[in-house]
Amino acid sequence: MSVKKIAILFSGNGSNLENILEKVHNKTFNGVTIKCDLLICNNPDAFGIQRAKKFGLKTVIINHKEFKTREDFDAKLVSLIQEKKIDLTILAGFMRILTPVFTKNIKAINLHPSILPIFKGGNAIKESFNSDMLVGGVSVHFVSEELDGGKLINQLVFYRKKGMSLEEWEENIHKLEYEILPKTIIELLAFSN
Ligand code: GRF
Repeated sequence: MSVKKIAILFSGNGSNLENILEKVHNKTFNGVTIKCDLLICNNPDAFGIQRAKKFGLKTVIINHKEFKTREDFDAKLVSLIQEKKIDLTILAGFMRILTPVFTKNIKAINLHPSILPIFKGGNAIKESFNSDMLVGGVSVHFVSEELDGGKLINQLVFYRKKGMSLEEWEENIHKLEYEILPKTIIELLAFSN
């Protein structure tokens, strides 16, 4: 049996963080136990910090506002992640653009609420809802220097029902997010070499 360590980075609500902790933290898949060994948040008021406490986990707060440059902030993240010898870093609602200081040194995946490469960026849910697309969906991809642009790992989609509201659209997206992210983490850590 082996242990694989994950770090989760988040910025706000943290529903995906909680979902990962529920479904994969301290659980064994195919002989591999996945442990969340590091939680980092850039926003001291994020609700996710409270969610993590329910699992007895402390969040390290690295406030980006206290750093002069993006690179300095990224270097701090990299040193924490490397110090803990993390196998896979997960961006779950982490709302910061990362520089090569991070992307060249850390193996990380990101969750995005659209069928990439369409609707990159921070307004993906609204933009996809307001489009003519008859399907919506979610993507998980490796983190690269290009925002929401790294190699795709998994995608899930749903059909637009007639007269669907933005709230229903968003609900469908979150439902798929709670499915795709744990599934991808387990696949990468326990079912691939
Ligand atoms: C999710 O929709 C995710 O796809 C996007 O940010 C949102 C985070 O939600 N990147 P939560 O903080 O996990 O509730």
